[in-house]
Amino acid sequence: MNGSLFDVVQDAKMFVFDAYGTLFDVGAAIARHREKVGPEADRLSDIWRTKQLEYSWTLTLAGRFVDFWTLTEQALDVALGSCPSVDRGLRGDLLDAYRTLDAYPDARVALRALKAKGARTAILSNGSEKMLADAVAAAGIGGDLDAVLSVDPIKLFKPRPEVYRLVLEKFSVAPGEVIFVSSNGWDVMGARAFGFRPVWVNRAKKPAEYPDVTPIRVIDDLSGLLDLAPS
Ligand code: LAC
Repeated sequence: MNGSLFDVVQDAKMFVFDAYGTLFDVGAAIARHREKVGPEADRLSDIWRTKQLEYSWTLTLAGRFVDFWTLTEQALDVALGSCPSVDRGLRGDLLDAYRTLDAYPDARVALRALKAKGARTAILSNGSEKMLADAVAAAGIGGDLDAVLSVDPIKLFKPRPEVYRLVLEKFSVAPGEVIFVSSNGWDVMGARAFGFRPVWVNRAKKPAEYPDVTPIRVIDDLSGLLDLAPS
């Protein structure tokens, strides 16, 4: 990774997090019903997430907007249609579970530690305002977040730059003062392109992508953030 002054961070005061896959475990919805879902559980989960994100990108490219909860429902319907062995009667249970995903254990600990160090924390997510409110409440992390920012007001999805600009409009910070944390390589690329200092939490141990627009750091879980905060 080409080290540069931009990549050096001391005493960062603003940490902004992607939600799904970064703070919340998107696999938890199916994991809760794995036995009833059966042998195609992993395939169902992969198609569900892939289609949810694909729709956010293609609709944005086409200049259209459908809220992320509706895309989550549509993606699940396509995933169920691609997995004939899965009982369609589970649709409601799976969607209910998606509304109240588990937070990763390291997410809860990291948010609390960052707040204790005097940092500001926020979510910046494609999630609709209602689905984010439900997830934050269910995970019990609302007390460790200074803001929960949804794309709903601007009707565009990440990695459009207007989405990342929502952080600057909410907090009086410069882009270079924001540590942006995501498990999605394409989101890290968008954040860096906008001017944030992105950290990729590579939970799934995926190969690096976007070699021309890189994160300042790659971590396995959110405990790897704490030394970036004020000491
Ligand atoms: C989000 C999805 C993209 O929370 O993970 O924005």
